[in-house]
Amino acid sequence: MPDRATATAHPNIALVKYWGKRPGPGNIPATPSLSLTLDALTTTTTVEVADADRFVLDGAPVADPKIDAFLQALRSEFDIPPLAATSASNFPAGCGLASSASGFAALVTAMDNALGWGLDRDARSEWARRGSGSAGRSIVGGFGMLSERDGRWVARELLAADAWPLRVVVGITSRKRKAVGSTAGMERSRMTSPFYGAWVRSTEEDFADAERAVLERDFGRLARVAESSCLKMHALMLSSDPALFYWNAATVECLHRIRMLRDAGAEVFFTVDAGPQVKAVCTADHESAVRDALEQVPGVDEVLVSGLGAGASCTVSPAPA
Ligand code: DP6
Repeated sequence: MPDRATATAHPNIALVKYWGKRPGPGNIPATPSLSLTLDALTTTTTVEVADADRFVLDGAPVADPKIDAFLQALRSEFDIPPLAATSASNFPAGCGLASSASGFAALVTAMDNALGWGLDRDARSEWARRGSGSAGRSIVGGFGMLSERDGRWVARELLAADAWPLRVVVGITSRKRKAVGSTAGMERSRMTSPFYGAWVRSTEEDFADAERAVLERDFGRLARVAESSCLKMHALMLSSDPALFYWNAATVECLHRIRMLRDAGAEVFFTVDAGPQVKAVCTADHESAVRDALEQVPGVDEVLVSGLGAGASCTVSPAPA
């Protein structure tokens, strides 16, 4: 057993969104979801056996109830010694760029290797999903689908990254931490939005539609279903009580510019998660026009560009003597 391992994972961006859980334990999503795993954004996590549990995130020690609950769930199934985990990302955390997705995917992959469990990809996806629903999808690369199969909620790779090399242009409009996190927000929507039942039903249809669009490389169809899923999720958020309102003025302006580009013939569509950042998905031919357009929006602080990436992976290293 190596005792120490380093894993990397990339965030993923949902095109058919997950927003809502089944009541009860295990962090089971209420609906399937479909995503793109990015390559330019990366979380790197090292886990090693230590004298006490310690978790350092982007250089600062953290006590995070989500991580604590995750370790407790793992400890109920595995014999786990005290662990030190050090995790760093090359992008800002907690502002709608899916840091918990790459974070839990890297953590479970590093633990699996450091502690010699030998989990297969499905088991790692299942555990990552228990840490954070979207993290189940960062175990796979390219186009990922998280859905129920044989009673288990795991992600599978629908299409590899190089099979349809789309690009993702991210407009960062704020670096503030979101006021309401995804877990609390989605529970609020389930309990209070009059639209929740309709959301769950229509997401099943969107998922089937998006799966077909990806398999057929049908950009127009994927654009329609992805923007619709995004806007329905935000309608659900807005109709929750108190309302969940994640956008700022620059977010809205980016959406208009992306639609204008599409009307002018560019292959591009948008999606937005629980935060104010805008993700524009486009073909390589239109990447520079999309980047230029987002850079010109007042309030856009930075524009990042990414291709599609691989699933979580591990580098094993021996513990220092
Ligand atoms: C808007 O996976 O962060 O990004 O399972 O409670 O940790 P928990 O939620 P999380 O929610 C992601 C919400 C989303 C949409 C998505 O990624 O599908």
